[in-house]
Amino acid sequence: MSINITVVDESGEAQEVEWKDNQTLLECLHKNQYPVLATCGGNASCATCHTFMDPEHFETGGDERTEAEEDLLEMIDDVANDYSRLACQTEYNEGLDGATVTLKPGM
Ligand code: FES
Repeated sequence: MSINITVVDESGEAQEVEWKDNQTLLECLHKNQYPVLATCGGNASCATCHTFMDPEHFETGGDERTEAEEDLLEMIDDVANDYSRLACQTEYNEGLDGATVTLKPGM
């Protein structure tokens, strides 16, 4: 199974990509050739995989943020917002079909 999401890269270019049900958002982005740094290897300790979910899908389509994700986003609250997600902590969810994910500039 898979869903489609739109990814907006740091230059503002939008592209629709497939997200398969066995992937985290980070794995989906890497599979689709987005050079997301992910320094900690997906362990919720670096925030270099920071993304922004569109508000509608943040509310309806995603799992709750993990405690580790919340803690890390608080540490980068100068750049994070209410719709921030760490791509490594964002699990596949059919409710995210049609979502727009914006990559943080400078990823
Ligand atoms: S890859 Fe480090 S927090 Fe997501």
